[in-house]
Order: sequence, then structure tokens, then C-alpha cells
Amino acid sequence: MAPPNAHAAGSPLRPDGEAAIARIVERYQTAINDELRAALDQRPVPPFTLMRYHLGWEDKDGNPVEGRGGKLLRPALCLLCCEATGGDWRRALPAAAALELIHNFTLIHDDVEDASRQRHGRETLWSVWGEAQAINAGDGMFALAQATLLRLTERGHPAGRVIEAARMLHEATLRLCEGQHLDLLNEDKRQISHEDYLRMIEGKTAALLAASTGIGALLGGATPETTDALFEFGRRLGLAYQVRDDLLGVWGNVAETGKPAGDDLRAGKQSYPVVVALERASNDQRADLQRLLANDVMSDADVTHACATLEQLGARDEGERVAREHADGAAAALDGLDLDADRLGELRQLARFAADRRA
Ligand code: IPE
Ligand code: IPE
Ligand code: MG
Ligand code: MG
Repeated sequence: MAPPNAHAAGSPLRPDGEAAIARIVERYQTAINDELRAALDQRPVPPFTLMRYHLGWEDKDGNPVEGRGGKLLRPALCLLCCEATGGDWRRALPAAAALELIHNFTLIHDDVEDASRQRHGRETLWSVWGEAQAINAGDGMFALAQATLLRLTERGHPAGRVIEAARMLHEATLRLCEGQHLDLLNEDKRQISHEDYLRMIEGKTAALLAASTGIGALLGGATPETTDALFEFGRRLGLAYQVRDDLLGVWGNVAETGKPAGDDLRAGKQSYPVVVALERASNDQRADLQRLLANDVMSDADVTHACATLEQLGARDEGERVAREHADGAAAALDGLDLDADRLGELRQLARFAADRRA
């Protein structure tokens, strides 16, 4: 059953600089969590208990916690786009919850794939229960997402619209798997191009954010043109979001991100600062960086040295510039759309957040 503090779980967004974003998400937070809980509370047995742990609702023993869950960005974007296009956001909640479940299914598997031991300042699911159980819990969450999406029919959406939402969600998940495949493949490459990088993040991150905004517009009853424009908004926001994630992966503060900085370097990821630095490096610097990234184990001193090289080559500044460029591209996709004025302002704020966030 839902613990009494079910909806009190704090947002990981910081109360100061990111307060505006926290306010947008907060408007929907209780309703999103209720929808997610409706899906999970029917199943009080493993592996669903493991999913509750991953979502930050319970500790390893199943006791309720006021831990740090996710930012709920994808469901919030879905509901905001539904509202912006004149729809009733409450009727879109099953889609919002399905998007969050798909996102978290990929995070559970991503932590296995990346050998990441920490997320949201807690041990990852596989670190507690092992890789095999994490694969199974992720699979269960994938199925739960599909079942949850179908609850749109109970909210009065016609079957054709529900099928279109399902098509968009499946397409995004397929693109996401392609992106994850490339991400893993790129770990073994010495250097990748900007085009390779873009192809990878279009899949692993932008596809689901585009589906979030596109499905929101679809459920709001938007015209196909407006739905396409909001899909493009989500796509560009997603690119900004991942470039920023890559910067936080090197220079972020673990107290804010909940993920240890340096993990991407240790895993030999071709993250954006690495792509930029390898392109700009002298032959000696490139060989030095490539040697460090190829090491099975990087010492703390190696990580510090690699970070300093990236910074010295301007990879941090360039990443910030490119993230802002994508955020501007997202905002430009909104130009000329007939949207609710307040919600439009909030979409613009979320685009900026994608490029500037610290959590
Ligand atoms: C993490 O996404 C994976 C990326 C696509 C960068 P979020 O940073 O949105 O994760 P949660 O939802 O807050 O956990
Ligand atoms: C982001 O993966 C996209 C997905 C999880 C599918 P990353 O591996 O870059 O994200 P974090 O840093 O682990 O959240
Ligand atoms: Mg990862
Ligand atoms: Mg990954």
C-alpha cells in the first residue's frame, strides 16, 4: 500500500536556481505519482518491490522512504504539452506514467550496461540484487508501461488515438535501444565524430523526450502540424539535456546529481567533452587521453588529469555552448504555435533548464 508520505518525497531539483522548474513539475507531481502507484500497488510482490526501490519509494527491505526519486521531466513535459494545446492534462496521466516507466526501465538496464553503482545518491538496483534480477525487473517495468498506457481508454480517449500514442512510444523505445547500442559500441572506439555522437544521443535520449512532448500534444487534441512542432521541441530539448548530462558526468556535483562525477570517463564513454577534446587535442594529448580512457581501471589521479585536459581544451565551454544551441533550437520550434501563453512560457523555461541544469 502507499505509505502516508507517498507524495511528500522531495524533488531532487534544487529549491533555488531551479525553483521555477520545480514549480512546473510540482503541479503534476502528486497526480503522476498516484498514477504510477496505481500501476504498482496492485502488485505487492517481487520484482515489483524492486521497482519501488528503484523509483526511490522504498528501501531495500520494503520500508517507505522519503528518498530522492527522478525529476519526472518526461511525464511533466507530456502533461504540459497536453495542457498547452488545450487538453485536459488529467486525462493524459496514463501516458505520462507510461513514459516515466519506460524511462526507468531503461535506467535500470542502463546501470547494468554502464556498470554504474550509484543513482540518485543510492545503490543501483543491480548493485543490490544483481544483474540478472535487474534485467528481469527492467523487463517487468517495460510491460507495466504498456499496460499503463492502455488505461488511456478508460479516460475517454478514442482507440485510434491510443494506438497512435502506443506507436509513438514503441518507436521511441526502439530508437532508444539503437542509441544504447551505439553508446556501448562507442566505448571501444578510440575516437568518434560529431555525427556519430549526435546519432547516439538522438536515440538514447532525444527520442523519448520527443515522444513525451509529441504524445502530450496528440492527447491534447493538437493538429498534426502542432504535434510535429512539439515533437521537434522535445527532440532538441533532449539533445541539450544529454549534452548537459555529459558535462555533469565530468564536472557535476555528486550532492546535486546523485551520480559520481568521473564515472563516464572511467567507463571509457565517448561523452561530449571527450568528443570535443579528442578533436582539438595535439597528437600527444590525444594519445594520452586515449590511453587513459582505454584503461580498465582509472585511478583518481588519472580522472583528475583527464578532467583538467578536457577543461584546458575548452571542452566544457564548448559543451555549454552546444547545449544552449540545442535549447535555443527547441525554443525556436515553438515559434508561431497557437499555445496557451502561460504554458508556452513554461515550455521555454524547461528548454533553458535542459541546458543549464545542475541536477
Ligand atoms: C537520466 O535522465 C538519463 C538521461 C537521459 C540523461 P534524468 O536525468 O531525466 O533522470 P531522472 O528521471 O531524474 O532519474
Ligand atoms: C542516458 O544514458 C540514456 C538512457 C539511460 C537510456 P546515460 O548512461 O548517459 O545516463 P546516466 O548518466 O547513466 O543517467
Ligand atoms: Mg548510464
Ligand atoms: Mg548509458
